[in-house]
Amino acid sequence: MDDKENQPPAVRETAPLLNNGTQSRLVSFCSQHKRIIIPLAIMILLLPLLGLLALRNGHAHARNWTSPIIYPSPEIYGAGNWSEAFEKARTMVSKMSLEEMNNVTLGVTDGSNGCVGVSGGAPRHGFPGLCLHDAGNGVRNTDGVSGFASGLSIGASWNHSLALERARYMGAEFKRKGVNVALGPVVGPIGRIAQGGRNWEGFAADPYLDGILGAQTVVGLQESVIACVKHFVANEQETNRNPISTDDRTILSSSSNVDDHTMHELYVWPFQDLVHAGAGSIMCSYNRLNQTYACENSKAMNGILKGELNFQGFVVSDWVAQHSGIESADAGLDMAMPTTNYWNERQLEEAVNSGALNKSRLIDMATRIITTWYQFGQDEALPLGSGLPSNLLMPHNYTEAKDPASKSSLLQQAIESHVLVKNTNSALPLGRLKVLSVFGYDAIAQNTFVPDSRLFPQSWEVIGLGLPQLNGISSNVPVPDPPIIQNGTLIVGGGSGSNTPPYISSPFEALQARAYDDETAIFFDFVSSEPAIVASSEACLVFINEYSSEVWDRPGLADSASDELVNNVAASCNNTVVIIHNAGIRVVDAWVENPNITAVMYAHLPGQDAGRALVQLLHGDVSPSGRLPYTVGKQASDYGDLLGPCQAHGSSSPQCDFTEGVNIDYRSFLASNTTPRYEFGYGLTYTDFEYSGLRIDVNATATTEDADVAPVYVNGTTNDNQNNTAVVVGGLASLFENVGTVQASIRNTGDVAAAEVAQLYLQIPAASTNTHSQPTKVLRGFQKMMVQPGNSADVTFPVRRKDVSTWDVVRQAWVIPSGEFLVFVGKSVLDTPLTGSFST
Ligand code: BGC
Repeated sequence: MDDKENQPPAVRETAPLLNNGTQSRLVSFCSQHKRIIIPLAIMILLLPLLGLLALRNGHAHARNWTSPIIYPSPEIYGAGNWSEAFEKARTMVSKMSLEEMNNVTLGVTDGSNGCVGVSGGAPRHGFPGLCLHDAGNGVRNTDGVSGFASGLSIGASWNHSLALERARYMGAEFKRKGVNVALGPVVGPIGRIAQGGRNWEGFAADPYLDGILGAQTVVGLQESVIACVKHFVANEQETNRNPISTDDRTILSSSSNVDDHTMHELYVWPFQDLVHAGAGSIMCSYNRLNQTYACENSKAMNGILKGELNFQGFVVSDWVAQHSGIESADAGLDMAMPTTNYWNERQLEEAVNSGALNKSRLIDMATRIITTWYQFGQDEALPLGSGLPSNLLMPHNYTEAKDPASKSSLLQQAIESHVLVKNTNSALPLGRLKVLSVFGYDAIAQNTFVPDSRLFPQSWEVIGLGLPQLNGISSNVPVPDPPIIQNGTLIVGGGSGSNTPPYISSPFEALQARAYDDETAIFFDFVSSEPAIVASSEACLVFINEYSSEVWDRPGLADSASDELVNNVAASCNNTVVIIHNAGIRVVDAWVENPNITAVMYAHLPGQDAGRALVQLLHGDVSPSGRLPYTVGKQASDYGDLLGPCQAHGSSSPQCDFTEGVNIDYRSFLASNTTPRYEFGYGLTYTDFEYSGLRIDVNATATTEDADVAPVYVNGTTNDNQNNTAVVVGGLASLFENVGTVQASIRNTGDVAAAEVAQLYLQIPAASTNTHSQPTKVLRGFQKMMVQPGNSADVTFPVRRKDVSTWDVVRQAWVIPSGEFLVFVGKSVLDTPLTGSFST
């Protein structure tokens, strides 16, 4: 995030939260609403008393969740294809003074460019430092770049090659702007809680889908720059994400309390795939993990990331997520951003001199950073942030970063972002209409899109935040209403994951252009909640959205104003089509069963070509091919404890117990036998597909009780991995080897061409040691294929050893459990016409 210093005096998030302009709006809000604020303030002041009680329980409880200490920090040794870069870095670092090494590890203030972080250099040796910049959905806060479809939209695409193509174009834009490290992709949060504010930045509420799409993204980005995979780890909510200091106490960041089994099979799972894909850097997160801050958590960074996953790159702190000096270095943190109070005055150098820090650790920190710089060709990069002006409102040279060749990909991303979930009476495709009505605040482009110096540099990022939300954030009180973007179509979420589109193709503009071609008469009203409906309308399109942003979690899964609008239109129009631009799960049961509502489309966050893509889908120029990357419940309560963030409840040490284990999203619905409205993997198109011919050819042998299990990193010497030929970057090589395939045939039985997303789910028998979460089906393969009408195609799901393994907490190893593996192939987690099994 941007620097947002000078917090309101009473309650302050210790990490920067809001900038000056925002604060002055807050202050004026507070003075206008004294009558509400004063009682609220009294309540807040009383909270510490309640807190004392909760604290006693909290502390007793916290003892059950602790994070082991894993020292020393595994050193980089140039595993696999990192060896050449490592040798070059080693040579350079061997000539550096301790002061220079110290300097390489920290963020420095550099006002000459717009990089969100600049690391210290060692100019005497030719290392200029690094420009780090947001984020995973495109270059943020500048001109001359593209507004790509967001992570959630790529999740909805279920398309490996599209994820790769998008990342290639995106990486090239970062490079042309002089960025060395693109701060993305996001595979944490995964989406444990339905209302999570940042779920949209990542791909899907499933570790397998995240792992596959995230790995493609890493590969694509790293053709040009270094990817920074974030946020490591179990960073599942925004509420209490940073410590909050009041006058008399500090409320710590929430502690994600996660057991070892869940950690491996859910939260670390995608990170492992992305490290295996070669990720150059990892961002440690704001939360505490089993009581210890993620950026000083030696179990997470030394033990899991650099040990078990044999990560060779560097770990950078999330912005102001560093809370200690020597401890964080010892725990495996390599770079502190955007500045640091712990390492900035040569403290690391002094610690080495005094013996408080091992010299080898400081050498390792610098070597990891410089190795990564060489590994991804950054020694030949443009000057730091050369194309990123620090202030777009001041005169600057324009640097064009967009590639005309990316246009078709950007449109395709927007198309595949859409998931059609209801289509009765063949309402869609629309065909050529004589009269069309268009309603809803989300149909048009917002009426300003210029940098806003009072808020964040781009007004985009907080556009949905009304003052109640801002007030809620600053006082850490849940915000009252799920926010919507009132006057404009939603193409990206808010905060550091937002991007900067060069233009916005709004639905209404694109519909108008189509109306010209089709000679359609359009009536519209984007303002009224009860618009008048011209009786000759053949269809009524209603556009609504659901906004979400970094810093806060959504207070609900639907807003009543939008529901009211939809119901009002449907009351008078018997062919009502609802399009939702949603930055997260949006429930629709307030109206979805109304027979006048004939079609519903989740459009997600399509980026700059939102309208253009939608119109092609509505008119059947292309068939919808997105599938839900999360579960839509019938009502908010269907999500149970996984609906919203856990709260501090007056404690200074908020505790979030992840007691559901691996059963989040669809696994939670399956485990509790709850029927969702629309299940994970679901989505309609304009044709039908028939499944047949299941072939299972998996050759996996159960790991016997007395077998020598493949070793993972053991707490001890830093050479463990180097001497272990079974280990590659990403962990055990064998985990990534194929143990077989599952195949099936699909046939397009309709009369239009369309892409099908065939999905493989396995139900894996539990290992005898892992009894606490009921095993459910889990996604273990998917393939998207375009099939012409009447044609058939074969789909093949390669199955890796990882995909049939479970983490054995006693043996501290991945094992193949013994028993019957159930196999399900089909169109969604609940619609799997082909079933079979294999045994180990
Ligand atoms: C976010 C990161 C982001 C960083 C830099 C932090 O607040 O959590 O995702 O990359 O700011 O803007």
